[in-house]
Amino acid sequence: LPQGDLAKKKIYPTIWWLFRDGLLPDDTHVVGFARTPLTVAQIRQQSQPYLKATPEDGDRLDAFFARNSYVAGQYGEAGAFERLDAHLRALPGGPRANRLFYLALPPSVYAPVTRHIRQACMGQGWNRVIVEKPFGRDLASSNALSDHISSLFREDQIYRIDHYLGKEMVQNLMVLRFGNRIFGPIWNRDNIACVVLTFKEPFGTEGRGGYFDDFGIIRDVMQNHLLQMLCLVAMEKPASTDPDDVRDEKVKVLKSIAEVQLEDVVLGQYVGNPQGEGEARKGYLDDATVPAGSTTATFAAAVLRVANERWDGVPFVLRCGKALNERKAEVRLQFRDVPGDIFQRQCKRNELVVRVQPDEAVYTKMMTKKPGMFFNPEESELDLTYGNRYK
Ligand code: BG6
Repeated sequence: LPQGDLAKKKIYPTIWWLFRDGLLPDDTHVVGFARTPLTVAQIRQQSQPYLKATPEDGDRLDAFFARNSYVAGQYGEAGAFERLDAHLRALPGGPRANRLFYLALPPSVYAPVTRHIRQACMGQGWNRVIVEKPFGRDLASSNALSDHISSLFREDQIYRIDHYLGKEMVQNLMVLRFGNRIFGPIWNRDNIACVVLTFKEPFGTEGRGGYFDDFGIIRDVMQNHLLQMLCLVAMEKPASTDPDDVRDEKVKVLKSIAEVQLEDVVLGQYVGNPQGEGEARKGYLDDATVPAGSTTATFAAAVLRVANERWDGVPFVLRCGKALNERKAEVRLQFRDVPGDIFQRQCKRNELVVRVQPDEAVYTKMMTKKPGMFFNPEESELDLTYGNRYK
């Protein structure tokens, strides 16, 4: 593990939660590896705001960081990985321990780092690598990276991660769809008018521009997180919940998606908000890590069409952006108008909303009679807010 933005915001906190909840094997040790010389105390301090530790967690948190250590080294230097290997061997469990390498790294160094890991850091237990997106930037570079990694590791040693698939509500899409009789029969073009998948973040690149500017919002969020959610919404029922069966159904969805047309795409780049405070005053181009004059998109909206029997004609609208007004990720299915209206067009369309974050919820927007003497339809919600239902 290195010590960048991803490490402090996501990876250290996640490993800490697994440790806190007793979900890691007792003899697990965590070793950071990156260029900057760092102490474990500094790592702890940098990840502190994201750990969500309570005062009662104090001893457990100390115990967690006591299992942490850190090695500094250059990503292209064989000797650095030999030092890492020596460090791993010296830990309890020695050379026989299983080793899981998590590449939370700039994509530009995936190739040399995986080569050095293979050459210098294989233990006698199992060895696995986890690769974060972006997995290349186009088909050719993705294929090149695949070829490179599979020349070093077996397929069952390689884990390609999309962390949205770990989110509770994204996983819930399977149960909502395939565990409820009320949704199955209406989940199609006859009843659904459109599907909107949204990702919004209230902060900009904030020093991560070096990575971001090479990739842009489509590669950073849309082609992975939003497309994974789209596949779970659109796919047919898999033969089982086995990962390979789910993957097969997702692939069919992807094959049915027609090439996106330029007139169905909107791109944007955020500017500073003169009324905002601190970072909000800065536009994308004010980030010192962003090259001057960059035209990289930080916002994108696109309409995708799944040209199969279930979805023909239903637009799937994907929208994502940084430095927007709020933090929100959701899936929204909008149903068609009720045919044969008898309420003088007072009824709004039903919607089924799966709110991934914040405040996980599943709710349907539906019409109900406003209580009282008159016969007035009113929009209301059937609301399963997780914070209320699951303490
Ligand atoms: C990452 C992107 O994959 O997802 C980031 O690289 C983004 O740009 C992040 O901020 C959002 O993840 P989450 O879990 O905070 O919604």
